[in-house]
Amino acid sequence: MANSRLILSAFVLMGAASLLSSCSAGGENPGYEFAPNMYHGFGYEPLAQLADEPNKINPHGMNMREPVKGTVARGQADFAKYALPVSNEGYEASAAFRNPLPASAANIAEGQTLYNINCTPCHGDKGLGDGTIVAAGKFPPPPSYDSDRIKTTPDGKMFYSIRYGKNLMGAYGTTLTPEQIWKVVHYIRTVSGPYKGTATASK
Ligand code: HEC
Repeated sequence: MANSRLILSAFVLMGAASLLSSCSAGGENPGYEFAPNMYHGFGYEPLAQLADEPNKINPHGMNMREPVKGTVARGQADFAKYALPVSNEGYEASAAFRNPLPASAANIAEGQTLYNINCTPCHGDKGLGDGTIVAAGKFPPPPSYDSDRIKTTPDGKMFYSIRYGKNLMGAYGTTLTPEQIWKVVHYIRTVSGPYKGTATASK
């Protein structure tokens, strides 16, 4: 009697184990969600988008709404005039922009911090185009800031390229504010060209 009860409970345990293991994640299968509402709230989350639950109210099924056309982010009104169309014409027109910020030590220092965080993997510590992913052979080398090409690139075009991207280089307009980009341009001027080594950068 005691034996058969033992065998029975062994079977029950084995059954439970095999049931549980069939729910576990593996490969493409993310496993079974026991309490899906803990992961997928009932409310629309502005910063999350579930592919299988499109928003039924907003355009394009998106939870986040696009900003109204012509909207300027808070604190950036002074920089709205630097918006140009993303085209060859826009790039050429950007040459007329002058860096609106003073080349103060504080601005250059912040530009350097932002450069170190965002740009060194490709452009390298000193802007020579020898960053870590370039050295590892994963990305073609960008032009050195010490080259004639970059020395003669106007500040405005640098601003434009950093904001909207250029060929293989991605756009930083969503990562850096226009103000931050101008600070980075000041910093680049202290490692590139006639202002090299000076703490008082561009014109
Ligand atoms: C993934 C690699 C990569 C990263 C990261 C990167 N760049 Fe570049 N950058 C490039 C390449 C490649 C070019 C050359 C683009 C071309 O002219 O074809 C370039 C070009 C440039 C130019 C010259 C633009 C012009 O108008 O000729 C500037 C200035 C520049 N980068 C600044 C930056 C700054 C500032 C950052 C960080 C905010 C940055 N880059 C991040 C790869 C990168």
